[in-house]
Amino acid sequence: MPEMLATRAAFRTSCRATLDALREEGRYREFARLERLADRFPVYRCHGPHGPREVTVWSSNDYLGMGTHPLVLASHVEAVARHGAGAGGTRNISGTSPVHAALEAELAALHGKPAALLFGSGYLSNQAGLSAVLGALPGFHVFSDAKNHASMIAGMRGARDAVRHVWRHNDLDHLETLLRAAPPGAPKLIAFESVYSMDGDIAPIAAICDLAERHGAMTYLDEVHAVGLYGATGGGISERDGVADRVDIIEGTLAKGIGVLGGYIAGEAEVVDYVRSVAGGLIFTTALPPGVAAAALTSLRLLRREPARRVALAERAAALKSALDRAGLPRLPSPSHIVPVAVPGGASACRAAARRLLEAHDIYATPIDYPTVPRGTERLRLCATPHHTDAMITALVGALGEVLQPALARRAA
Ligand SMILES: Cc1ncc(COP(=O)(O)O)c(C=O)c1O
Repeated sequence: MPEMLATRAAFRTSCRATLDALREEGRYREFARLERLADRFPVYRCHGPHGPREVTVWSSNDYLGMGTHPLVLASHVEAVARHGAGAGGTRNISGTSPVHAALEAELAALHGKPAALLFGSGYLSNQAGLSAVLGALPGFHVFSDAKNHASMIAGMRGARDAVRHVWRHNDLDHLETLLRAAPPGAPKLIAFESVYSMDGDIAPIAAICDLAERHGAMTYLDEVHAVGLYGATGGGISERDGVADRVDIIEGTLAKGIGVLGGYIAGEAEVVDYVRSVAGGLIFTTALPPGVAAAALTSLRLLRREPARRVALAERAAALKSALDRAGLPRLPSPSHIVPVAVPGGASACRAAARRLLEAHDIYATPIDYPTVPRGTERLRLCATPHHTDAMITALVGALGEVLQPALARRAA
């Protein structure tokens, strides 16, 4: 018993020390209470210490606002009324409904692949999918871009037999050097993303596929920040660049461009069937609620046949970038819809800037710091959706000018 007490005391001390260190470094995370208003996106009600007030959100990953589209909401409500709130079991235990099957067929068609498999989230699809793929053969060598998402890293680590090589971000010479150095006969997989969410830069998918072919490697591509947003029908950068057929496995989310919740992989029928049969993150967890799957299916069908939202997204992102440039604000160069604005002065300065934006200007932008990005590259991550107006851009740029002024002045001095 005294040993148990000692363990608990040591555990509490360790938790407290971690929290104190996070606070000291300015990296303690506080979740702003933002109540989404479906009919007014991107306006939210923010619940702060002085009561609720309306704010404009610039950091939603519902990049097209599809999570508030009336037809998406209607299909969600209708499916909940018809099928109930939850799936009631894993896919294996009465949790597979026709709507799951229809959504998987639509996702497979989106990427031009024979099959697709749903997961509870994009995180799970990477974690469970990559672990399963790398577990298929002994001694897999996996080549991972240095900026790959935590869920991909978790998936690679989950395959205990696999040897992981990290290549410098988007550096094809480094990737080729590592591929050359690996044993020629070993099974190889290159794992990378299309749009990188913190910098907004884009992978050269065709060139990576060239390297993969030259070195006999398979490819695994995370299109989480591109699905619905790029390509003629929203199939992502691989569709835009005409290379989806050269990628073995495409992974995506239903939570960002599609605006709902869930994740998936798409690929050859037998590969998808294999993952379905062995992935713990699918087999041992309850299926997506049918209402969620129905809403995602409606959203995906709208996105596939209506390119206007993609055009509007590109136009709004360009408008935001040029307004920031005209004001001389330090945005990081990005060819995508993600617009990071650098905040000099470390994590504390970045969080202070976000706090002031919210408190003084009724604007919410997420502060990004270590470990999501390297120390010294803290930033506010902005995304203009088709619903952000010119007036909202003007207000944001004016507010940023005021809020960032002290940090920029310190840097200039
Ligand atoms: C590159 C990448 N992959 C996967 C995920 C996880 O997706 P989800 O939010 O659907 O779990 C994220 C989340 O932000 C991501 O940035």
